[in-house]
Amino acid sequence: MDWSIVPNLGQILEDLRLEVVAYTHKDFLPTENILTEIFKKCCSSLGLVKRLNPFLQLIIGAVVFSFWILLALKLFQSITIPCYASGERMDDKTVLITGSNRGRGLEVARELASRGARIILACRNMQRGEEAMKFIRKTANTTRLSLAKIDFSDMMSIRNLAHQVLSNETRLDVLICNGSVSLDRLYRTETGVEVHLATNYLGFFLLSNLLLSLLSSSDGRILLPAGQDLWSADLEIDNLNSELRFNKKTVFANSQLANLLFTRQLAVRCAAAKIPVAVNCYDIGKQRTSFNWFSATREHNAVENMVHLAVSKDGKETSGNYFTGCKIAKVSERASDSALAEKLWNFSTFFTNLQEEESIF
Ligand SMILES: NC(=O)c1ccc[n+]([C@@H]2O[C@H](COP(=O)([O-])OP(=O)(O)OC[C@H]3O[C@@H](n4cnc5c(N)ncnc54)[C@H](OP(=O)(O)O)[C@@H]3O)[C@@H](O)[C@H]2O)c1
Repeated sequence: MDWSIVPNLGQILEDLRLEVVAYTHKDFLPTENILTEIFKKCCSSLGLVKRLNPFLQLIIGAVVFSFWILLALKLFQSITIPCYASGERMDDKTVLITGSNRGRGLEVARELASRGARIILACRNMQRGEEAMKFIRKTANTTRLSLAKIDFSDMMSIRNLAHQVLSNETRLDVLICNGSVSLDRLYRTETGVEVHLATNYLGFFLLSNLLLSLLSSSDGRILLPAGQDLWSADLEIDNLNSELRFNKKTVFANSQLANLLFTRQLAVRCAAAKIPVAVNCYDIGKQRTSFNWFSATREHNAVENMVHLAVSKDGKETSGNYFTGCKIAKVSERASDSALAEKLWNFSTFFTNLQEEESIF
């Protein structure tokens, strides 16, 4: 083997590193140019290792090739998923965000706070909530923050939060229902509700209904979460509370499909009752992986999408839609089945014990 090539390997890696830095800092590159560039770089990088033995050539070739493919995917992702870059302010607005002590919820809270909104962080754990508040205070340079407790697995806690907001707030412009769980086995709340159903859907149903009158007086918006991986959803009303059987993939997917159906149904009801509240669903993105580079991009896009819905005209002028990448996306036939949505509404009213006097309809 000719070891004189070894110093060149360091150079190749450094060249590649610099290319990544250069590409990831460019705002836009036409796809054709990117592909041509990638092809050229692959060829020239491979040319330099020609003098190594064939096995090493193969390994280095495969590594370099995979590297460029990943870079191309990353660039493609950033070009095809638009960012919400508008600088609209929210100075006179009040926003309530649940599950806002970490992840997407925290990022959206920080972004809206930096646009001037007053933020009510509704968190399950008050200590984690305090830390989140400190972080936002520092990074968004604002003091217009307050903290409230909510535990979606406890209907009483949801009613308490709603009561507190209705008694203390004069307006509520945006309600962002956020926060979910994905568990490996069957757990039930104290009142016997399966935990995915309670936390990822029923809690949002109850909180949205309880706060609808206040939102309505400020021409408000409701944002609800939904994932795209719905293939395992069956939404059998008879087994929605996992009384007949339990499957962890199905219960998570069911909770996401339920949010899509609820969004449409609530939008239809608001339109029929002339309640000026826009209700839309945002894409929660894919499940996080340990491959941080892409996970971070997905998380960032999910945040952009939520900010877009909370701030833009789109988020006010359309209702009953599902947004991904700051655009309306089509949903499956099942997610637009009005008969199923009506059944789900009745089921949810029963399970949350939503009283007539609590509901605006
Ligand atoms: N497509 C998919 O299949 C898919 C996509 C995305 C996420 N997931 C799964 O969903 C789970 C959550 O995802 P994520 O980390 O992105 O979370 P997330 O939706 O951002 O939710 C996390 C937030 O929800 C809060 N929360 C959790 N349970 C709560 C409750 N009972 N009451 C009030 N707040 C509650 C958390 O508070 P604490 O800090 O107190 O826990 C945290 O603030 C993960 O297991 C993830 O793998 C699946």
